Amino acid sequence: MYPIDDFLNAFNVFLPKVIRDFSCQNDLQQALLYATLNGGKRTRPVLCFIFGSMVNKNIPIHNILHVASAVELIHCYSLVHDDLPAMDNDDLRRGLPTTHKKYTEATAILVGDSLQTMAFDILSSDVLNCSSDTKIKLIQILSKASGAMGMVSGQFLDMNLDSQFDKNNLLHIKQMHQQKTGALITAACVMGAVIGDIKNQAIQDKAKIIGGLIGELFQIQDDILDMTQSTQTLGKTAGKDLTNNKPTITAFMGLDNARFYADDLVQKL
Ligand code: IPE
Ligand code: IPE
Ligand code: MG
Ligand code: MG
Ligand code: MG
Repeated sequence: MYPIDDFLNAFNVFLPKVIRDFSCQNDLQQALLYATLNGGKRTRPVLCFIFGSMVNKNIPIHNILHVASAVELIHCYSLVHDDLPAMDNDDLRRGLPTTHKKYTEATAILVGDSLQTMAFDILSSDVLNCSSDTKIKLIQILSKASGAMGMVSGQFLDMNLDSQFDKNNLLHIKQMHQQKTGALITAACVMGAVIGDIKNQAIQDKAKIIGGLIGELFQIQDDILDMTQSTQTLGKTAGKDLTNNKPTITAFMGLDNARFYADDLVQKL
């Protein structure tokens, strides 16, 4: 089994390679590389790796890298679209101009579209060395987590587009967090477990619970950081949630209570 640092180094070499392999060599490819390579923490790939190697310590690194890159591509697409003027209207991401600022809005929309389909192209392709059943399962997990039952639905709530959504109701905020951020983080954990050993359902069930808690905690922490850290530290514009009147956990219960709430989740984890 690789240590995490070695995995991260391998992943950061692998990601541009897989993007080049799955796109045409043109200006769109340059924009795809820009949107994916600039300093993300790679939290989801690392979780995928941890669960994969927990289930199967001899897991082929080739497989984990492909599965982890599919998840990271969906994540990067979500950030590119999240930053668009029609959504959070952010100019800065990972310390650099957002994709629509660096290029154009149309480019950013198409970059997001390409990254999304590329993820499923990778999971269904021959380069992934596993059974067709495993591929279908991975595709199902990722499509459910990222689509209208998961991340996109959470983003819809976050944008206050759902008439039923009440930003003063903790259960609604919790659901938004679980969908917009928790679903993909959960998918990263479960997909790692599946590529490790599709037959080990017990670990997949545990990965789902653990991933859900990590995901919720991750978004709460992101809301807290937005209020407490500098633009330089974050690499994205600090205090933007308040400016945009976002339905965050901190706006709902205040900073101190949000910290207690996060501590509770850590205990549960
Ligand atoms: C930011 O995700 C968006 C959220 C879901 C909170 P990350 O904090 O994982 O962003 P990068 O990939 O490290 O830039
Ligand atoms: C983003 O949440 C969640 C997704 C992109 C799915 P945020 O809007 O809080 O993320 P940041 O703060 O812009 O990274
Ligand atoms: Mg957002
Ligand atoms: Mg945002
Ligand atoms: Mg945020």
